[in-house]
Amino acid sequence: MSLVLPVAEAPQSSLEKGLLRLMRNGVTSLPVLPQVAASALQLANDPSTGPRDLADLIDGDPPIAARFLSVANSAAYYRGYAAPTTRDAVIRLGLATTRDLLFQVVYGASTQGVGNFQSQVAYSFKRSVLAGAAARLAAKRLGQRFEYDYMCGLLHDIGEARIYRLLAKLPPTKNLRLVRSLVERYHPSAGAEVAMAWRLPAEIVDCCAAHHDSDTEHEPHVRLVMIADACVDAVLGDGVARIGVDPERFARLGLGQEVAASLVSELRDTQSPEQAPRPTEARS
Ligand SMILES: [Fe+2]
Ligand SMILES: [Fe+2]
Repeated sequence: MSLVLPVAEAPQSSLEKGLLRLMRNGVTSLPVLPQVAASALQLANDPSTGPRDLADLIDGDPPIAARFLSVANSAAYYRGYAAPTTRDAVIRLGLATTRDLLFQVVYGASTQGVGNFQSQVAYSFKRSVLAGAAARLAAKRLGQRFEYDYMCGLLHDIGEARIYRLLAKLPPTKNLRLVRSLVERYHPSAGAEVAMAWRLPAEIVDCCAAHHDSDTEHEPHVRLVMIADACVDAVLGDGVARIGVDPERFARLGLGQEVAASLVSELRDTQSPEQAPRPTEARS
């Protein structure tokens, strides 16, 4: 398993050279997918699986189970009554949504070991959770629901945390612009490597690898993630992608301004009050 790394523009900084060295030798530094998530991926696809099977699996990993229950009872998933046990939560959410939430929990737990980049990684995770919700909303709205729509949105930028983790192993730098540009350049291939190492479905690997590649806009699942990203930018006000300021971005993705505006407003409504702080650096 190896991806072709993007061709770097010469001259490379010593930071970039160090990063490339770590990425090339870096299979050992790939985050490990906890067994509970790997098993949930299989169980959710097995028609003979019942809520109890999935609940027993989750309860076998107490830290993950505790976090899972807390997210399942959070504002975004609350349905008028609290789920006191994992099994209650699985019954309420259904197997597929349980799997999706487990991946959210596992992803959140894997954003450790990033040294001084904690706020950047927390912000990347915040965007990712919002992108999962955006991908699902967009899929519903466009009649393009598929099994992994939420996970494609959630995990498409998982390479960002990996790049930050690798950069944290190199001599510290104050040049946050350089750091951000390296993350922008290398996170798609780094994310696809993580997705392949975790044996995630091909659609998710595609989304990690190609969500910044304009040539692949015709792939429906990749396009969906591009739409999700545009919605997240509009909600968080990143860059110049505010809806109304840059409707061309949505138009390029085949969305009229009315549909885009209503998606963005629906996504804004899903935001829970407890959000990770925004890092001080600007996204480029
Ligand atoms: Fe990205
Ligand atoms: Fe993104």
